[in-house]
Amino acid sequence: MPSSPLFRRATVTRIVQETADARTFTLKPLDGPLTYEAGQYCIFRITVDGRPAPRAYSFSSAPGFDDEITTTVKRVPGGAASNWLHDHVREGDELELTAARGRFTLRPADTPLLGFCGGSGITPVLSLAKSTLAGTDRRVRLLCADRNRGQAIFHDTLTDLAARHPDRLDVVRHLDDLRGYLSAADIKEFVGADAGADAYVCGPEPFMELVESALAGTGRVFSERFGGGEAPASVPTTPPAHVKAAGTVTVVMQGRRQTIAKRPGETLLQSARRAGFAPPFSCEAGNCATCMAILREGTATMRANDALMDDEVAEGYVLTCQAVPDEDAASVVVEYE
Ligand SMILES: Cc1cc2nc3c(=O)[nH]c(=O)nc-3n(C[C@H](O)[C@H](O)[C@H](O)COP(=O)(O)OP(=O)(O)OC[C@H]3O[C@@H](n4cnc5c(N)ncnc54)[C@H](O)[C@@H]3O)c2cc1C
Ligand code: FES
Repeated sequence: MPSSPLFRRATVTRIVQETADARTFTLKPLDGPLTYEAGQYCIFRITVDGRPAPRAYSFSSAPGFDDEITTTVKRVPGGAASNWLHDHVREGDELELTAARGRFTLRPADTPLLGFCGGSGITPVLSLAKSTLAGTDRRVRLLCADRNRGQAIFHDTLTDLAARHPDRLDVVRHLDDLRGYLSAADIKEFVGADAGADAYVCGPEPFMELVESALAGTGRVFSERFGGGEAPASVPTTPPAHVKAAGTVTVVMQGRRQTIAKRPGETLLQSARRAGFAPPFSCEAGNCATCMAILREGTATMRANDALMDDEVAEGYVLTCQAVPDEDAASVVVEYE
């Protein structure tokens, strides 16, 4: 696949098997340092069986704490990209990835940092925890929920870290096989006197919903959704076929080009699907950039954008799940890279 200005190449210098189904990939960018903040992620350009499967993976490393850049990927049963990364990527291989992005990052604060992680949700939270320990005097308290001890990613890493920072890092483990699922009461008990703290939440959707509702009314809550649950309620529905807008939408993907009539209010992602493509997407909420593509012609307005950076927007990239062609744009051409 030709290289693109959006993506840069990095060599996988080391692969560590963290648990039976989670691996950490150490990445060395070929063209100089990659700037990122703790808690951020990149989009990896992955192709599985000839189909684009770009996916977001968070950094498990932290700037100011780790010399190397790492990301940690958990296999998702039946999942295209996570299994491809586990089964096909070897040390010495190269991967393509975008610049770092995301708003699941640290804000200046004096309060403790509370981290709530379910399963692979530990990845960005570990990064935040390490950065907080290295760069501030704040206390860090983590509540890590996993099915069992064998599935607990970074179990030993966190135990070592807590031993090195006994006054500042506290890790509470919740293993479902010993205590059943985490409850709202467990979360409230964990928060205790730190109700004014910044809370960072990442894990499977039911875990996120439980923690977020249990934290309601406490300090600031930051959430990172990995996707994979129910489609978000905010997904706009495709407008009825009989409603037409003047103009066309042309979708270009993998060398194929298809032009269809514009429909008012329809996102470019919906248009691409209607045109017969299977475009990449994940959150459909403007958070992950998995659906990004470049506008080659015409204009469109994004309903939300929590994933693209200003320079990418200036270059013409859009989140196709959020971008609706402007009414006066007679011809819109969007290309998935
Ligand atoms: C901001 C962000 C950061 C992330 N960071 C991380 C991280 O650090 N580590 C990490 O492990 N993940 C992370 N993720 C999740 C990651 O991006 C992927 O979504 C995840 O790895 C699954 O991708 P996949 O291609 O393997 O699965 P997909 O192919 O996308 O499949 C997802 C789900 O759909 C099901 N499915 C797929 N195909 C079918 C089918 N034909 N019929 C029925 N069901 C099907 C699968 O079984 C699976 O349950 C992050 C996501 C986001 C948005
Ligand atoms: S699918 Fe996540 S931003 Fe569009």
